[in-house]
Amino acid sequence: MKISRIGVVGAGQMGNGIAHVAAQAGLKVVLQDLDDRFVEKGLATIAKNLQRGVDKGRMTAEEKEAVLARIEGTTDLEEMAGCQLVVEAVVEKLEVKLDLFSRLDAICGPEALLATNTSSISVTRIAAATGRPGKVIGMHFMNPVPVMKLVEVIRGLGTSDSTCETVKKLAEAMGKVAVECRDFPGFISNRVLMPMINEAICALHEGVAEPEAIDTIMKLGMNHPMGPLTLADFIGLDTCLAIMEVLHSGLGDSKYRPCPLLRKYVEAGWLGRKTGRGFYDYSK
Ligand code: CAA
Repeated sequence: MKISRIGVVGAGQMGNGIAHVAAQAGLKVVLQDLDDRFVEKGLATIAKNLQRGVDKGRMTAEEKEAVLARIEGTTDLEEMAGCQLVVEAVVEKLEVKLDLFSRLDAICGPEALLATNTSSISVTRIAAATGRPGKVIGMHFMNPVPVMKLVEVIRGLGTSDSTCETVKKLAEAMGKVAVECRDFPGFISNRVLMPMINEAICALHEGVAEPEAIDTIMKLGMNHPMGPLTLADFIGLDTCLAIMEVLHSGLGDSKYRPCPLLRKYVEAGWLGRKTGRGFYDYSK
């Protein structure tokens, strides 16, 4: 199936990045969120991130405007009706995703593909909320979406080969490298990344080293672009905790136990960059 118009549900950090790269690849995009303010903020972020390319001479101001003109913002989920593929990028809560997929199943045409950008929730479970499990797939982009090359493509138990091939081709048309894996808790990306971040938080909790020392050791010693605590703040500590909970309950092994300090920070509302405080202070 040729995909020329996609929907993105959720205009936050991941959703606006997905809309950005899709529109830059020439697709028409419908970007939906619950409130006008969220839609406007998402569109403003895309404009700001496209401007980086203009400032560096990689794109003209006219090209930037043409990309923005391909994105239509809306609060009306019914507008997903004309899309051949919808990518969901809403909050990491199972019940929210189940409700949304059942509504999308009713709104979208029978041929439309439904993708979730979930970072760890079961794609198979989300697919079971629809009458089209063969057409439901995980399309896991990395943050910041315009920069990171990977799309982790997750096959639910019932995902068809043709859905998988279409989505991989689309990800590649968006300038990404698509890598396929099966639907198990945390997939590959977060099954490997999150225990490392959790362990860094445990080391901090136990007083092994200060945050700056932990991050510098991992940056300079392992050549990571960001230390694990900086990365946790960047991802959002609520998201990190939610992923650890999925690993812990889904794999049933105590090695995935979320660090109590991570829980404390989330309870305090210290969620990282987005709230101005996490392991570091971003208020200035
Ligand atoms: N949109 C567009 N471009 C952006 C951007 C954004 N949001 N953020 C940064 N950039 C661009 C910059 O313009 C710059 O471009 P040039 O190289 O062309 O000049 C480039 O990215 C590098 O940016 P900076 O120089 O400002 O900063 P940096 O060198 O420190 O890089 C970073 C920033 C790309 C975020 C880098 O620190 C990095 O790669 N960090 C690790 C990110 C990571 O691991 N992401 C995955 C998180 S896990 C996840 O997303 C999945 C999950 O389920 C939790």
